Amino acid sequence: MWWKEAVVYQVYPRSFQDSNGDGIGDLNGITEHLDYLKKLGVNVIWLSPHYDSPNADNGYDIRDYRKVMKEFGTMADFDRMLAAIKARHMRLIIDLVVNHTSDEHAWFVQSRSSRDNPYRDYYFWRDGKPNPADPAHLLPPNNYPSYFSGSAWKLDEPTKQYYLHLFAVKQPDLNWDNPKVREDVFSLMKFWLDKGVDGFRMDVIPLISKQPGLPDLTPEQLKDPSRIWANGPHRDEYLLQMNREVLSKYDVMTVGEAIGITLEEEPKLIDSSRHELNLVFNFDAVRINRGDFYSEKPWTLPDLKAIYDHHAEVLGKTSWDTVFLSNHDNPRLVSNFGDTSTPELRVRSAKLLETMLMTLRGTPFVYQGDELGMTNFPFKQLDQFDDIEVKNAYKEKVLGSKMTEAEFIAESQRFGRDNSRTPMQWTDAPNAGFTTATARPWLAVNPNYPEINAAKEQADPASVLRYTEDLIALHHAHLAFVYGDYKDLDPDNPQVFAFTRTLAVPGRSDQRFMVVLNFGEKPVDYALPKGIVAGKLVLANVLGTPQTGGTTLKLAAWDARIYTF
Ligand code: NOJ
Ligand code: CA
Repeated sequence: MWWKEAVVYQVYPRSFQDSNGDGIGDLNGITEHLDYLKKLGVNVIWLSPHYDSPNADNGYDIRDYRKVMKEFGTMADFDRMLAAIKARHMRLIIDLVVNHTSDEHAWFVQSRSSRDNPYRDYYFWRDGKPNPADPAHLLPPNNYPSYFSGSAWKLDEPTKQYYLHLFAVKQPDLNWDNPKVREDVFSLMKFWLDKGVDGFRMDVIPLISKQPGLPDLTPEQLKDPSRIWANGPHRDEYLLQMNREVLSKYDVMTVGEAIGITLEEEPKLIDSSRHELNLVFNFDAVRINRGDFYSEKPWTLPDLKAIYDHHAEVLGKTSWDTVFLSNHDNPRLVSNFGDTSTPELRVRSAKLLETMLMTLRGTPFVYQGDELGMTNFPFKQLDQFDDIEVKNAYKEKVLGSKMTEAEFIAESQRFGRDNSRTPMQWTDAPNAGFTTATARPWLAVNPNYPEINAAKEQADPASVLRYTEDLIALHHAHLAFVYGDYKDLDPDNPQVFAFTRTLAVPGRSDQRFMVVLNFGEKPVDYALPKGIVAGKLVLANVLGTPQTGGTTLKLAAWDARIYTF
């Protein structure tokens, strides 16, 4: 199962590389950088949506599943990119966004045209509820909120009914209870698999089975609607059907975005005996510091360790895990969990985080730019943001007087999705080499690009990039990092994360690795738990770290080490 041994790299095409000077990344731009990815050592690319889209949500609103977004290029460009990926012995998985379509998709255009159109039942249409307070204006059919603020229902004038959109108004939800919808989705999946793509990352896939009758959420349920939306009665039945009719016929990797699913529920989707999906993304770790919306929640290192320990326990031997702490919906890795207060600490902490991701249990995912230690953007005002999530929330929270503009900008600067969507920083040329010097990139380049960019880091043996290359090579070289047992040596330690990965290899001596991470600025003389002795140093993020360990380790700020033991 190649996807267990893979290291995946997520490309957000809009921001990766612009090849034709229009300020928007494109497929030819990706093809240009495949040697960079090969050298980095990743062997699977996850491409965020590349389909024809009006971009209400940057491609997560698909107008035509069988076409390439024109800003990104043509189908010939896609085919060339795919062939070039395969020629380098890498694989490609694409984003499958089928909980909803764009409102400009032909199915929805038909569906909204009349109540008796054959496509009417491809989506959820309902009458409004009587409004005793104002009989002339009906209320939405139920109290579902949208992820992007406001009600999840929109009144559509032509037929005077409401349609359901859990995300943006321009992202109507597909009705998977209609067998024709499932057939059409399966057919478009085959279209891409027959071209040779190696699988899918499935956008908000647990939401495909809606609750029968769409009853109101109770006040308790309204605190976390995803829990109800993700656990509809037919979710597993539809995924099993998808597996039977499509996935099982190809050698593919599938990773579902497990929105609304608890760790304990995950085996329902990914237990290897079930034949639904291979992997899911669980958000417990990446959202450990997140309160309501973009607010910050305090967390401790033992909390984080408990999450990984719990994963090992629950997923055990029958389900496979994913490891990630960033993507296009979350802040930059090092800004979120590391330390950007000085250039030195940024580099150190970025390396520490990569060390953790590459040695924990599960298939690791690297988000573009994190291998450079790219940071959040210094957003100062609303018009610097592009994201619909921010724009809609601004209306609700600031114009709705729930918080001040300054508070809102501060929270969005900390957690907003545009932080990770700024263009890749390739060089110190104007626009960071992402696009031509005179073009206007679709989203501003982070002003720190002269300092943080791939060219500079490639030339610097002490860079985050060069370290990440070594780390990925190490991950590939030792199956202990893939199949090895995981043990947290010191779960309660508030500052040091120390764990082992061990694997018995028949006919050879066992692979035994110990990872020691000092989470923070404070140096510490760390005494290893009784009976544990650090052996030979395999990799370290601090120059001059002694080549052998012992029982007490003198750890510097954000020190990360991998030993044999
Ligand atoms: C999850 C995607 O990752 C996010 O970017 C998108 O806005 C929503 N799903 C809706 O498709
Ligand atoms: Ca372009």
